[in-house]
Amino acid sequence: RVASALFKPGMPMPTRTRSYDLLIRNGTVIDGTGGPSRQDDIAIVGDKIAGVGRLHGASAERVIDAEGRVVAPGFVDAHTHDDRAVLTAAGMTPKVSQGVTSVVTGNCGVSLAPLAGVDPVPPLNLIGSRDDFFGDFFGYFEALADVGSVVNVAAQVGHTALRVLAMDNLDRPATDREIAVMAEALDESMKAGCIGLSTGLAYPPAQAAPTAEVVALVERLAAFNGIHTTHMRNEKDRVVDSVRETIDIGKRAAVPVVISHHKCSGRANWGQTRETLPLIANAQHPVALDVYPYTASSTVLLEAHVQTAERVLVTWSESEPDQAGRDLDDISAEWGCSRSEAVARLLPAGAIYFQMDEADLERIIRTSDAMIGSDGLPHDAVPHPRLWGTFPRVLGRFVRERGWLSLEDAVHRMTGKTAAVFGFAKRGVLAEGNFADLAIFDPDTVIDSATYEAPTTPSAGIETVVVNGEVVWADGAATGLRPGSRLVREPRA
Ligand code: ZN
Ligand code: CU
Repeated sequence: RVASALFKPGMPMPTRTRSYDLLIRNGTVIDGTGGPSRQDDIAIVGDKIAGVGRLHGASAERVIDAEGRVVAPGFVDAHTHDDRAVLTAAGMTPKVSQGVTSVVTGNCGVSLAPLAGVDPVPPLNLIGSRDDFFGDFFGYFEALADVGSVVNVAAQVGHTALRVLAMDNLDRPATDREIAVMAEALDESMKAGCIGLSTGLAYPPAQAAPTAEVVALVERLAAFNGIHTTHMRNEKDRVVDSVRETIDIGKRAAVPVVISHHKCSGRANWGQTRETLPLIANAQHPVALDVYPYTASSTVLLEAHVQTAERVLVTWSESEPDQAGRDLDDISAEWGCSRSEAVARLLPAGAIYFQMDEADLERIIRTSDAMIGSDGLPHDAVPHPRLWGTFPRVLGRFVRERGWLSLEDAVHRMTGKTAAVFGFAKRGVLAEGNFADLAIFDPDTVIDSATYEAPTTPSAGIETVVVNGEVVWADGAATGLRPGSRLVREPRA
């Protein structure tokens, strides 16, 4: 094992022979802070970075020549529904093939615990069916430790899961008694190791929750240093009001907040980011946001979204599985019925909705509050391409081809920024003593290959991915190693 404090970034090192576990030579190091790239070597011992600098004379068990390649921190997927995918062997290939080394799960009010033995109502059914759920997060994290995760996992507990646990009827506000049941389950989940609470106030099972119910739960997070993420009440004609409600909840509870997959849906609401982004920037409260780089959304099939979308693609259907991947208009034409009648026949189902404007997307991705998150849905039969393409799409299409951001800034919104917002200590930045999570990619060729027609095509240009010092992706394939760990949220230094 190697002693610490041997190197300073960018400085030539005295010639000496040292042996490391892994040495990445001659790469263009983008360290995740947003600072300029530089030519450096990176040495790894065990699960940590032992040095960043010009390591002349060093040797290692395994050497990777990264000439002409970018060496970046592994990407942190700020918004996922990988709660169950991380428990399965092949489930994380969509993510490691993109350079992702850590995922935040439990978003949009949806989590796999604490909720055993019930049939999950939409959107809980996006991540599993009855037998997939866990009675508490102690059981969930135990299962995760038993199978071993490919990537690092930070889990949130979902407000909608808590409502289903505590309430017999979801169409009304929770009573004080029901809030007390939710609060106790929330505290238990935080003690088990969750990093925070997510809400999905736009979805039917949580729509009836008033702001006060949300505040009563979110304020409990302060004692646990937790974070609140929210799929806001409205992302359409009342998106500005929803941003105000979100900031208000954060201030009243004194808990930092992340606005999930920020967007303005429906043609009539395009351009509202001109109002929402300044509101967020001037909130005088810690508010961040995540965004996926597409103008189509995806979730369960809902009549409300069908009405505002220009085009709808079916991603799965329990009653009509053969229709997965098809356009709703084609289906209704073939069946000789209205869109609404086709929806009723397809349910329960999932869909992709084309309903956003690229100018809003550009504004959101470029705002300094933005983190990149895929919102990928790993169990859909024909998923939205964001599951396999999000990170390379930003790097290839929006950085290299369009110049929306510098490469350093884009990497920052995938790594250092995200680790800072979520409080993942020693992650997201390439520095001596930090965990060795890395993505090595070709900046000239990196691009998403997943499309709406072929959504499970792996991206191009991501060459090697390292989690906690172990190579999990190389030569276009997952290695099968499972070195991931559970992430906790630590107070900012
Ligand atoms: Zn959501
Ligand atoms: Cu989501």
